[in-house]
Amino acid sequence: MESVSGPKSVLEIRGLTRRFGGLTAVDRFDVDVNEGEIVSLVGPNGAGKTTVFNLISGVLRPTAGSVRLLGRELVGLPAHRITHQGVARTFQNIRVFPQLTVRENILLGTHHWTRSGMLGSVTFWPSTLRAERAAQAEVHTAIDLFRERLEARLDDPAFSLSYANRRRTEMARALAARPKLLLLDEPAAGMNPYERIEVAGLIRSMRDRGLTIFLIEHHMPLVMEISDRVVVMDHGVKIAEGLPKEVHSNPRVVEAYLGRRAASA
Ligand SMILES: Nc1ncnc2c1ncn2[C@@H]1O[C@H](COP(=O)(O)OP(=O)(O)O)[C@@H](O)[C@H]1O
Ligand SMILES: [Mg+2]
Repeated sequence: MESVSGPKSVLEIRGLTRRFGGLTAVDRFDVDVNEGEIVSLVGPNGAGKTTVFNLISGVLRPTAGSVRLLGRELVGLPAHRITHQGVARTFQNIRVFPQLTVRENILLGTHHWTRSGMLGSVTFWPSTLRAERAAQAEVHTAIDLFRERLEARLDDPAFSLSYANRRRTEMARALAARPKLLLLDEPAAGMNPYERIEVAGLIRSMRDRGLTIFLIEHHMPLVMEISDRVVVMDHGVKIAEGLPKEVHSNPRVVEAYLGRRAASA
């Protein structure tokens, strides 16, 4: 008997649609991200990329469509349940708590699996301690990739960090959630060329450790270098999908970028 087992789908999006009043920010969008892949979502500003991430992570509810994680429907679940199912993300405009230390920010990523929140602290004490210890250990695992950058800063407040280190802290927090799917929204935005190369290396290391990554990035050389596949959006619609070199030379893609740039010039 022939057994053809295709790639295992981690994320399966079908017909995803989100309207804001008269604007259709995401329009019948389909995508698959398979286990161990790095898939990039690119497109001009306002294309609907961040909205796709907000719909996956439960920040927004779709008008229509389906989002499945390892076969399980996420649409309709509140954001914290989606985190618990295994989706972690970073934000285009960094979201770290400035007054908390790097360690505390990263610990926040562990809360959904340690249960060391409110309930934990009023129930059985030893299990709370165990959870606390597990969470602290996870901080060290999570910063493993960022050790040179963050280890010496663990007890510093996040506001005192450089921009790049705040981005690293946010990524470490996402890793501390032990996700099955990691959503990165422009992780290299605002970074210098040297830091961008480092980010590319980090993303690759995360994948090599078994993570599946869905990435929004508009720095094209980085996208071309690290992506297994690239999905291109414009005006909420998927206009191209394929290997990096295929989409790079796709006339619709070139037009979406150049057309918009010319219009804004
Ligand atoms: N919460 C919201 N309310 C109203 N309009 C929104 C909201 N979020 C995004 N939009 C609009 O949806 C479109 C897509 O935005 P976004 O997903 O942020 O694009 P991208 O990330 O590709 O730059 C834009 O026109 C934006 O103004
Ligand atoms: Mg965006």
